[in-house]
Amino acid sequence: MSKIGIDIEKAKQILQAVGLVAIPTETVYGLAANALDETAVLKIFEAKNRPHFDPLIIHTNSIEKIKHYVSSFPVWAEQLANAFWPGALTLLLPKKDLVPDLVTSGLPQVAVRIPNHPLTLQLLSNLDFPLAAPSANPFGYVSPTKAAHVAAQLQDKVDYILDGGTCEVGIESTIVGFEKDKVTVYRLGGIAIEDIEKIVGKVEIKINQSSNPLAPGMLKSHYAPLKPLFIDDINSFIKKNPTKKIGVISFNTTYPIDKKYLKVLSPSSDLKEAAHNLFAAIRELDSSDVEVIVAEKFPETFLGKAINDRLQRASVK
Ligand code: TXA
Ligand code: MG
Repeated sequence: MSKIGIDIEKAKQILQAVGLVAIPTETVYGLAANALDETAVLKIFEAKNRPHFDPLIIHTNSIEKIKHYVSSFPVWAEQLANAFWPGALTLLLPKKDLVPDLVTSGLPQVAVRIPNHPLTLQLLSNLDFPLAAPSANPFGYVSPTKAAHVAAQLQDKVDYILDGGTCEVGIESTIVGFEKDKVTVYRLGGIAIEDIEKIVGKVEIKINQSSNPLAPGMLKSHYAPLKPLFIDDINSFIKKNPTKKIGVISFNTTYPIDKKYLKVLSPSSDLKEAAHNLFAAIRELDSSDVEVIVAEKFPETFLGKAINDRLQRASVK
């Protein structure tokens, strides 16, 4: 029996029986289990080899359901939820006791999100529990944006992979909370800061740049390929490394190298399209025979900020 498919009923039965199902979302694939069942949640940490200090996002299909799991849903959250859900936005809200401490790594807040993918929304609407789901990759590696990416690394560790095609957005959700009277962004992602500020005004940005494990999940080195990745001017990198087999990630420009080593993320200079293509490009170069990968810095606006953040974390320091 195939482990990959579009059988929502099968996914539901596995999840009800404390199993693990990889689910498509518009950002990246998630590795899902019943968020209210500690045994199920433990399986996620094991399958990913993820440290317990790195908390999980819970997913449902309605604000009404989310209110069962959070003790307050303040005005700023309501405004952002109305503007962006279902979508690439995660909110940090005070948790109720029924959310296991394992899900939040003991923190008083739980991360919640309504993802925007038809298969997963249908699955969630058929479940009477939320799904805890980190990105479906081994801890520290690049997130998967296709079912085949999940299968390549976690095939043996999941019970089923719900195949929802290629993820539309391609990078993880933007994580937003509230601290010292201010809406605060903790992870750049699929919803741009500029768009969030149109709804709630100026926000604080508190992206963790350290490798301090006390700052859950915002580890500096993350999303990393196995091949060394450098951020540099592409022409000068090629000149500096004449003997190396180089994989290139560029925004919109073509370079005179072997086509199979060149990933132009958006020939039409569209940052959304570039984000959509980013992780698959890194994966393809990583599994090719290049020795190093060089990516150029993207424009620091809209999704370009999140792209640069992921490239930074993937890069050699
Ligand atoms: O787009 C996404 O967010 C994807 C899809 C599957 O929904 N999920 C995802 O999950 O990227 P993950 O586990 O790879 O990243 C979740 C991050 C954690 O590493 C942590 O930084 C933050 O969310 N987080 C989760 N719960 C938190 C909490 N209670 N307090 C602070 N940060 C939290
Ligand atoms: Mg992740």
